[in-house]
Amino acid sequence: MNELNAIVESAKAAFSVAVTPADLENAKAQFLGKSGRITELMKGMAALSVDEKKSRGAAINLSKQAIEAALNDRRQALADAELQMQLQAEALDVTLPGRQRGQGGLHPVSLTLERIEAIFGSMGFDVAQGPEIETDWFNFTALNTPEDHPARSMHDTFYVEGGSQTAPNLLRTHTSPMQIRYAVQHVKKYSKVFNSDQGKSLFSGAMPEIRVIAPGRTYRVDSDATHSPMFHQCEGLWVGENVSFKDLKFVFTDFCRTFFESDDLVLRFRPSFFPFTEPSAEIDIQFQTGPLAGRWLEVAGSGQVHPNVIRNMGLDPERYIGFAFGMGPDRLTMLRYGVNDLRLFFDGDIRFLSQFQ
Ligand code: DAH
Repeated sequence: MNELNAIVESAKAAFSVAVTPADLENAKAQFLGKSGRITELMKGMAALSVDEKKSRGAAINLSKQAIEAALNDRRQALADAELQMQLQAEALDVTLPGRQRGQGGLHPVSLTLERIEAIFGSMGFDVAQGPEIETDWFNFTALNTPEDHPARSMHDTFYVEGGSQTAPNLLRTHTSPMQIRYAVQHVKKYSKVFNSDQGKSLFSGAMPEIRVIAPGRTYRVDSDATHSPMFHQCEGLWVGENVSFKDLKFVFTDFCRTFFESDDLVLRFRPSFFPFTEPSAEIDIQFQTGPLAGRWLEVAGSGQVHPNVIRNMGLDPERYIGFAFGMGPDRLTMLRYGVNDLRLFFDGDIRFLSQFQ
C-alpha cells in the first residue's frame, strides 16, 4: 500500500510541475502509459493467486483512479490559465472612443459645376453630357472650322486612333461640339423632314427653343500654372426665333451675379473672334469690391451662332438665330475661392481638397 501511495504522490508532484499540455502528457505516460508504473504493476499481477489478484487489483485501480483525477484537475487548471491569458491579451477597452469614419466631399470644381447647373437650370436650361472622344466633324468642321482653317491651330489637339486620315478622332478641345450634338437631337424631335445629310434639308417649322448647357472635361496639349492638359468647360446655347445679344447679356450677367453672390459685379463684352460665332465677344467681369476689385477678369467666350453652324444643326438660319458661350469652370473656381494655381485642383492632395468641405 505504501508503494501505491508513493506512486500516487509522485504522479501528483509530476503533474503539478507540468506547465504545458505537452509536459502533462509526458508525465501521464510515466504512470499510465504502456510501460508506465501503474501499467507495470498490473502486468506484475499475472503470477498472483485469484484472491490476491482481487485485493491487489482493487488497490491498484484505486491508485489509478486517484492519478487520473489528479491528471484531470491539472488539465483543467492548465486550460483555465490558458484562457485567462488569452482573455487578457485580447482585452477590449470599451471606454476608448470609436474610430471615426473619414468624411469625403465633392471636388471644388464639381461644386462649381453643380452650382452652374443649378443656376442655369433655374433659368430653364437643360443639362447635356457628351463624348470626350470626338470626331473631327463635331469638334471642328460642323463648328464652321473646316480643315486647314487657321483657327484649328489655336487648339493644340490630342489626336487618338480612329476616324480617317484627313479627319482623325480626337479628344474634344472644347465643349462646343455639344452645340451641334444637342441641337441635332432637338431638331430631330420636332422635324419630320430633317435627315442627317447636314445642311441639306433645313428645318424652318416651329419648335420650342433650344436652351442647354453642356459641362464636361476638355483636352489640349498645354500645361502650366493656368493650363492643364485636361480642364473643364461649360458650353451654353440658346437658339430660337428671336434670341439676341441682349438676352445673352442678361442671362450671363444674372449667372455671374448669382454664382459669385455679388451684385457688385459688372460685365464687359470685348470684340473677339471665334469661327462658330459672328459677331464674337470675350466676356470679362469686374468686381467693384473685395480682393479682386478693379481688375477685368476674362470668364467666357461668346457670340451669336454663325449661320453655317445653325445650318449644321439642321435649322434654317433665315428663321433661327441664337447665342452661345463657353466658360471655364476651373477658372471660375479659382476666382471664387482665391486659388492661384490651377494644378492644385488636379494634384489630388487631400490637404488642399479638404479645405472645400
Ligand atoms: N469653344 C471656345 C474655346 O474653347 C469657347 C467659346 C467661344 C464657346 C465662343 C462658345 C462661344 O460657345 O460662342 O475657346
